[in-house]
Amino acid sequence: MFDRLLLNVHAATMTAHDAGGLGIIENAAVGVTGGKITFIGAEKDLPAGRPARETADGGGKWVTPAFIDCHTHLIYAGNRAAEFEKRLQGASYEEISRAGGGILSTVRATRDATEQELFDLSLRRLKTMLMEGVGTFEIKSGYGLDFETERRMLRVATRLRDETNLRVQRTFLGAHALPPEYAGRPDDYIGHICDDMLPALHAEKLVDAVDGFCENIGFSRAQIERVFKKARELGLPVKLHAEQLSNLNGAALAAQYGALSADHIEYLDEDGAAAMAKAGTVAVLLPGAFYFLREKHAPPVELLRKHRVPMAVATDHNPGTSPTLSLLLMLNMSCTHFRLTPEEALLGITRHAARALGFQSVCGTLEEGKAADLALWDVSHPRDLCYYFPRPPL
Ligand code: NIG
Ligand code: FE
Repeated sequence: MFDRLLLNVHAATMTAHDAGGLGIIENAAVGVTGGKITFIGAEKDLPAGRPARETADGGGKWVTPAFIDCHTHLIYAGNRAAEFEKRLQGASYEEISRAGGGILSTVRATRDATEQELFDLSLRRLKTMLMEGVGTFEIKSGYGLDFETERRMLRVATRLRDETNLRVQRTFLGAHALPPEYAGRPDDYIGHICDDMLPALHAEKLVDAVDGFCENIGFSRAQIERVFKKARELGLPVKLHAEQLSNLNGAALAAQYGALSADHIEYLDEDGAAAMAKAGTVAVLLPGAFYFLREKHAPPVELLRKHRVPMAVATDHNPGTSPTLSLLLMLNMSCTHFRLTPEEALLGITRHAARALGFQSVCGTLEEGKAADLALWDVSHPRDLCYYFPRPPL
């Protein structure tokens, strides 16, 4: 007996059983029991004698796994529209950052906000993303940079997970920028992360993964490595903002620590791609930040293909470099700006995005045993999802 049975649909299962990898099944049925997929296949292959409590007619529309946004900075206060104006007048992201703006201006606003204010702001953002069929979110801290505010952000991420019943990965990003209290003392701040903040937040069960920003305006490889060592000691998976503005070989460092993903990677070189392939580290491409910073240097998609590094696509939603709440727009932009094929882009927000979170046994494809996170689209083919912007009908 199924709890629910969805009939008369076409399915893009995102499993690799056809050439494009979308795993298309026409005239499909999806059976759900206990929140899990217990049948996916051609409707004509439905086993006889398995009735359903509830049956729905999909009207010939397309069903996909609910989408996964595997890189967001969803929780913050304030906005940075004034910086956007400055950049339009010629100032660079780095210049603004070095002058105490950038990430630190969002840190000031976030430190001033209460937990409830942060929750309300983030819930509104999350609900907007839900309207595009996103069912799993990664959410980073990193706009607190002190124990109390990082904790507040991670508590908000936990509440978002628990109160919406969505799948959420909470990522500690203490090594995002140097807080003003530690100006000129980055190694001391890294010590504070490793000795105090991360162990205490982990003990409170607020952390699922650990991230950092490896960049000239962020932290060095050596500093990031100290954070990764501590994460490993605590049994937490790592990931990294790497090679966004320059090549510090951060992706190779991340791969060395078995990272789930290396993200941005506009300046990744072949050694970095090879290291990622070897470690099974996913490349998370963030076309929103590339577009919004008016970057010219696109990530090396050909190298990633050559080395068979799985590519995910995410919004990187944040107030400084990617204030978009549209994962579907990222689908389109990953095709137009990065030249992904529509198949690659769709796998990037489903199967490969799940892997970027270590959730590949739970969601990201339509397979028996996976979560019944389904989205139903009124499109004529899955490629239409990459074509319309901002939004095809869910
Ligand atoms: O993913 N690169 C560092 N972190 C964010 C930007 C954060 C900000 O500017 O507020 C990113 O682009
Ligand atoms: Fe980011």
